[in-house]
Amino acid sequence: MKSDGKKIITGYFYNPLSFIGAILAVLVLMAEFVLFGIDFYGHYSNLYLGLGTYLVLPPFLILGILMIFLGFLLERRKARMGVAGDQKGRFIFDFSQPQTRNTGIIIVVAAVIFMIMTAIGTYKAFHYTESVAFCGLLCHEVMKPEYVAYQNSPHARVKCVDCHIGAGAGWYVRSKISGARQVVKTLLNSYERPIPVPVHNLRPAKETCEECHWPGKSFGNIEQDRQYYSTGSDGQPAHWTLRMLMHVSAKEGNSQGIHAHMSANNKVSYVASDEKRQVITWIRSVNDAGVATVYTTKDSPYKNAEPPQGKIRQMDCMDCHTRPSHHYEAPMPLVNRAIAEGRIDPAIPLIKDKAVAALARKYSTEDEAVAAIRTSLLAYYKEKQAPFYTAHEKNIQGSVDAVVDLFKHNMFPEMKVRWDVYPDNIGHMISPGCFRCHDGEHQSNAGKVVTRDCRVCHAIIAQGPADNVEKSVDGLPFRHPFDGDESWKEMNCADCHSGS
Ligand code: HEC
Ligand code: HEC
Ligand code: HEC
Ligand code: HEC
Ligand code: HEC
Ligand code: HEC
Repeated sequence: MKSDGKKIITGYFYNPLSFIGAILAVLVLMAEFVLFGIDFYGHYSNLYLGLGTYLVLPPFLILGILMIFLGFLLERRKARMGVAGDQKGRFIFDFSQPQTRNTGIIIVVAAVIFMIMTAIGTYKAFHYTESVAFCGLLCHEVMKPEYVAYQNSPHARVKCVDCHIGAGAGWYVRSKISGARQVVKTLLNSYERPIPVPVHNLRPAKETCEECHWPGKSFGNIEQDRQYYSTGSDGQPAHWTLRMLMHVSAKEGNSQGIHAHMSANNKVSYVASDEKRQVITWIRSVNDAGVATVYTTKDSPYKNAEPPQGKIRQMDCMDCHTRPSHHYEAPMPLVNRAIAEGRIDPAIPLIKDKAVAALARKYSTEDEAVAAIRTSLLAYYKEKQAPFYTAHEKNIQGSVDAVVDLFKHNMFPEMKVRWDVYPDNIGHMISPGCFRCHDGEHQSNAGKVVTRDCRVCHAIIAQGPADNVEKSVDGLPFRHPFDGDESWKEMNCADCHSGS
C-alpha cells in the first residue's frame, strides 16, 4: 500500500487532475447554492438565471466530479506500472486506515448533497423549460413574432406549453426531441423564415384548448363592434360603423350556430389540397342522426370517390381559431382600430391611406422599416401638406409614432412574418376563412350547398355612416361600406380585400 503518511484522504486523490476537478465542483456547487436561493425566493422567472442554474452549470459539476475520479484512476495506474506483479496499486477498502474512513465519509456526504440537488434541479429544470421565458425568449430572434403577438393576445397569461405541449410524459419527450432539433437549427442558423404552418406536432385541441374551454359551454351570441374609416368624395374623413351578433352557439332558425361543427354528434371533416389548408375540395358533415353528407367543389378529385384516410382531417378548434395567440393583423384593421382608439387622428388628410401603404410595404429589417415609415410619412406631410403640417405638427408626429408602433407589434421582417403569411381562419374578409367551405361552391350530389347566407353566422344589428346609423335587432341586410358597391354578392370578400 502506498504510504499515505500525513494525508487526510486516500493518496491516489492527490494529483493535479483531481485537484482541479475538486475546485471546479466546489465552485459550481457554491454558485448553484446561491442561484437556487435567488430562484426560490425571487418570485420571478428570469431567462438567464434559469438557463445558468438548471442547464449550463450542472454539466460542469458533473465534469468536476468525473475529473476527481479520473485523477484517482490515473494515479493508481501509475502506481501499478511502477511495481509489477505486486499488490501495489490495488485499492483496498481498509476502513481501519483513517484516510479511507475520511474518503468514505466525504464521498457519502457529497453523494447525498449531489442527489438532493439533482432531484430539485431536475424538477426545476423541467419547469424552467416549460416557462414562457424559455420558449419565447431563448431563441429570441426566431420566436420574436410569436412572443410579441402572444403578449397582446387574450392568452398572454397562458403558458406556451399549455397549447403547444399539454400534459403527459409522452408529449413532453416528443416536444423535447423536436425542441432539440430546433436548437440545432437555431445554432446552425438553418431554420425556416417564416416558420411554416400548420404546426404538425401540435397536440389535438381536445387535450389543449379543451382543458380550459370545454366544448359543452355555450357562448350564445358574441357582439363584434367595428369602426371603418376612409376619405369621402368631398375629401373629408368618413366613418362607418358596424355591429354584429355572432351566433356562436345560439339556435337561430334552423342553424345550430358556429360551434356546431364540433359538437359531439355533428362532426365535420375535410380534405385540403394545399399545405396551409386554404383550398378545400371535399367535406363530410355527419348530423345529429348520424347521417353523413358529402360536399365537393366542381373540380374536386373526390367527386365520386372517398379520399384516402390519411388526407382526411377532422375539424377542431384550430381549423377556425388558427391565431388564438399569435395574431398578426393586417394594415387596414390595424389603422381602423388605432383611429377608433384615438391614437391616429382621422382629421389628418389621407392619413389612413398613407399609413396603410407604409405598413404594407416590404422591408428587410425592423430598423429599416421604422426609419422608412417615419421619413416617408413626415416627408409627405412636410412637402405635400405644408400648411397643415405647420399647424398640426405635434398631432402628425404622434400619429406617425402610432403607425411605427403598429408595425413593431405586427410585422416582423427578420422572420418574414406578417398577416399575409399566416392565414386567420376566423371570418372571411382578408383570408378565405369560413368561405373556404361556405362560399356557395361546395355542393352535395343531391344539390345541397354549404351555405353562404349572410344571416346564418351573424346578424348585423347596426350599420351605416357614424352620424346616421341604421339599427335593427332582427338583423339588417349588409350594405358595403362607403360606396354601396354590390359586387360582394357575386365575388368573395377576400378576392378584393387583401388587408392593405
Ligand atoms: C392559446 C394557445 C397558444 C399559446 C398560449 C401559444 N401558442 Fe403558439 N400557436 C398556437 C396555434 C393554434 C398555432 C398555429 C398552428 C397552426 O396554424 O397550425 C401556433 C403557432 C406557433 C408557431 C408557428 C408559427 C406561427 O406564428 O404560427 C410558433 C413558433 C409558436 N406558436 C410559438 C409559441 C410561443 C413561443 C408561445 C409562448 C410565448 C406560444 N406559441 C403560445 C397556439 C398557442
Ligand atoms: C390554460 C387555459 C387556456 C388554454 C389551454 C386555452 N385558452 Fe383560450 N382562453 C383562456 C382564457 C382564460 C381566456 C379569456 C381571456 C380574457 O377574457 O381576456 C381565453 C380566451 C379565448 C378566446 C376568446 C378571445 C377573445 O378575443 O376574447 C378564444 C377564441 C380562445 N380562448 C381560444 C382558444 C383556443 C383555440 C385554444 C387552443 C389552441 C385555447 N383557447 C387554449 C384560457 C385558455
Ligand atoms: C371545412 C369546411 C368548413 C369550414 C372551414 C367552416 N364550415 Fe361551417 N359548416 C360546414 C358544414 C359542412 C356545415 C353543415 C352543413 C350541413 O350539412 O347542414 C357547416 C355549418 C355551419 C353553420 C350552421 C349552418 C346552418 O344552416 O345550420 C354555421 C353557423 C357555420 N357553419 C359557421 C361557420 C363559420 C363562422 C366558419 C368560419 C369561422 C365556418 N363555418 C367554417 C363546413 C365548414
Ligand atoms: C367553425 C369554426 C370554429 C370552430 C371549429 C371553433 N370556433 Fe370558437 N369561435 C368561432 C367564431 C366565429 C367565434 C365568434 C367570435 C369571433 O368572431 O371572433 C368563436 C368564439 C369562441 C370563443 C369565445 C370568444 C369570445 O370572444 O368570448 C371561444 C372561447 C372559442 N370560440 C373557443 C373555441 C374552442 C375551444 C374550440 C374547439 C373546441 C372552438 N372555439 C372551435 C369559430 C369556431
Ligand atoms: C359561415 C359563416 C359566415 C357567413 C356565411 C358570412 N359571414 Fe361574415 N363573418 C363571419 C365571421 C366568423 C366573421 C368574423 C368575426 C370576427 O372578426 O371575429 C365575419 C365578419 C364579417 C364582417 C366584418 C368584417 C371585418 O373584418 O371587419 C362583415 C362586414 C361580414 N362578415 C359580412 C358578411 C356578409 C355580407 C356575408 C354574406 C355574403 C357574410 N358575412 C357571410 C362569418 C360568416
Ligand atoms: C369588387 C371588390 C370588392 C369586393 C368583392 C368586396 N369589397 Fe369591400 N371594399 C372594396 C373597396 C374598394 C373598399 C374601399 C372603399 C373605400 O375606402 O372607400 C372596400 C371597403 C370595405 C370595408 C371598409 C374597409 C375598411 O377596412 O375600412 C368593409 C368592411 C368591406 N369592404 C367589407 C366587405 C365584405 C364583408 C365583403 C364581402 C362580403 C366585401 N367587402 C367585398 C372592394 C370590395
